[in-house]
Amino acid sequence: MAFPVHRPRRLRKNENIRRLVRENHVTVDDLIYPLFIEDGENIKIEIPSMPDIYRYSLDRIDEELEEVVNLNIPAVLLFGIPSHKDEVGSDTWSEEGIIQKAVRHIKKNYPQLYVITDVCFCEYTEHGHCGVLCGHDVENDTTLENTKKQVVSHAKAGADMVAPSGMMDGVVKAIREGLDEAGFYDIPIMAYSAKYASAYYGPFRDAAESSPSFGDRRTYQMDPANRREALKEVALDVEEGADIVMVKPALSYLDIISDVRQNFNLPVAAYNVSGEYSMIKAAGKMGWIDEQKVMMETLTSMKRAGADIIITYHAKEVAKLLKGQ
Ligand code: PBG
Ligand code: ZN
Repeated sequence: MAFPVHRPRRLRKNENIRRLVRENHVTVDDLIYPLFIEDGENIKIEIPSMPDIYRYSLDRIDEELEEVVNLNIPAVLLFGIPSHKDEVGSDTWSEEGIIQKAVRHIKKNYPQLYVITDVCFCEYTEHGHCGVLCGHDVENDTTLENTKKQVVSHAKAGADMVAPSGMMDGVVKAIREGLDEAGFYDIPIMAYSAKYASAYYGPFRDAAESSPSFGDRRTYQMDPANRREALKEVALDVEEGADIVMVKPALSYLDIISDVRQNFNLPVAAYNVSGEYSMIKAAGKMGWIDEQKVMMETLTSMKRAGADIIITYHAKEVAKLLKGQ
């Protein structure tokens, strides 16, 4: 029995009924806001390809942190731009490294804010690759040893959660071992499980000065053409002890988010990456789209696909919009 008995338009008649039958919502509770923190003083530099997103030094970052806390955004994800880069990225495990200093500052002054650290090496190495080089490729297992040092150092500084983004094999297992041996058995791991070798990271690499000086990341990040392989990557991370799994980028990978949601019972995070942000900002500035509406529609599509958590540069805008500010 179909038409005329069934008329789906009955449930779209006005906003009240639409509210009642709405299946998915973006709320401030879903959001993680990434922050770029640069070693040095008196730095507040807008990233040219990411309007309204800045690199801050620690002496200038309070304005940003106060806003995040006032907007009730639950968590930040920290990226560092160190004063010193070397072959292996030793700033990542230094007690005086930029992330360690940032975590101590934030946890001391904003204890209610949940602090997640991105765990990788590309912002800290002279060559810009995500680990220790052997010839022209990243050596997996040596990189794991350095990753253990990095996460333990982040945990000692007070990080609430660590998020490995380098796509090294076995990284979740190595991190779990490293944290547990150091007594940090209650620090969770959010794994960048299905991270693709994507051109959507372009603006981020300008922001974080993390472009590879030669070659690309296709020997460690996933091939954008592959779908089944994402389930294999996620399954390995779950087995190794991941607490939350991530799909990155988000917008061109909604099928992957949906697959992961249907096949696993862990929380799923989607990373709405820099290039996705820049496209909306650019089209908005041109007057070609309604920027706020496209932003909300895009983030809603990630929730609809199955994401629980969205990492997004739009977090403050969304929080303000939902608050009616
Ligand atoms: C570093 C890292 C990248 C992003 C997050 N962590 C860049 C890359 O892999 O080259 C991308 C984030 C974004 O584009 O917003 N491993
Ligand atoms: Zn990296």
